[in-house]
Amino acid sequence: MRNMSVDLCGVKLKNPLIAASGTFGFGREYDELYDISAWGAIAVKGLTDEPRAGNPPRRIAETSSGILNSVGLQNPGVDAFIRDELPRLASRGATVIANVAGSTAESCAEAARKLSDSPVAMIELNISCPNVKQGGAQFGACPEDAARVTAAVRSVCSRPLMVKLSPNVTDIASIAQAVQDAGADAVSLINTVTGMAIEARTRRPALANITGGLSGPAIKPIALRMVWQTAGGVRVPVVGMGGITTGTDAAEFMIAGATAVMVGTANITDVMAGPRILRELEDFLDENGIEDAGELTGSLILD
Ligand code: SIN
Repeated sequence: MRNMSVDLCGVKLKNPLIAASGTFGFGREYDELYDISAWGAIAVKGLTDEPRAGNPPRRIAETSSGILNSVGLQNPGVDAFIRDELPRLASRGATVIANVAGSTAESCAEAARKLSDSPVAMIELNISCPNVKQGGAQFGACPEDAARVTAAVRSVCSRPLMVKLSPNVTDIASIAQAVQDAGADAVSLINTVTGMAIEARTRRPALANITGGLSGPAIKPIALRMVWQTAGGVRVPVVGMGGITTGTDAAEFMIAGATAVMVGTANITDVMAGPRILRELEDFLDENGIEDAGELTGSLILD
């Protein structure tokens, strides 16, 4: 019997597939369709210390091979999440990763501090949202700022801390090294690639915020390259994401160096993507005589 479980900085995941933050909400809708505890973990929608309404509509635009979003971190706030959403997720047996964001290092730290006292397994610090005016991708744009926010959260966070990185930088591996040195236990990448869409007939931007973050199959080659470069430059585990749509895509990210992977946009285009991709990854292992999913990590052959 193959072993699908992986160890992500001390958190045992039953398999390497994680529902990516922002594409799975708090799991309510999917809970009606399948057993959401089948995921290795669920990264919930980004949480801020105070509730946020997000950006004005229109916030989503479909592109030829991906989705452009400018949600702007709409969420009910950490306290409401802990009170209204987490008990249901915990009762399902889901391993929960709380994605945390904020306008300042202090507000990120306050959200992470509250979550550290809750039954979440891990914190994912979001320093890469391209759709907010303060914080977000600004924090992840240079090693110094990324390290400063990570250190502020680390100082109050008793859970394993993963930092989610932006691809909209010149050298993502140097940002990964900076957050590792500031106390991160893992890094996740990539968040969305900044883009825009225009409606030619009206000559107006498709999104009210004009620009947004592109996700989906269009960004997969960029993500694979960045996961490979980052995994070669850090000691902490890397969680890979960006356009994973099939079990073979997941295997490719692990071969590039990822310990686990996140499935995002595929949840929106196929509501059953989670169980399907897990089945496909299991089939890939069986077909290739691999007994332990972890054997894939960093197994890229360069000759
Ligand atoms: C958003 O809420 O705008 C997306 C979150 C993100 O890209 O981190």
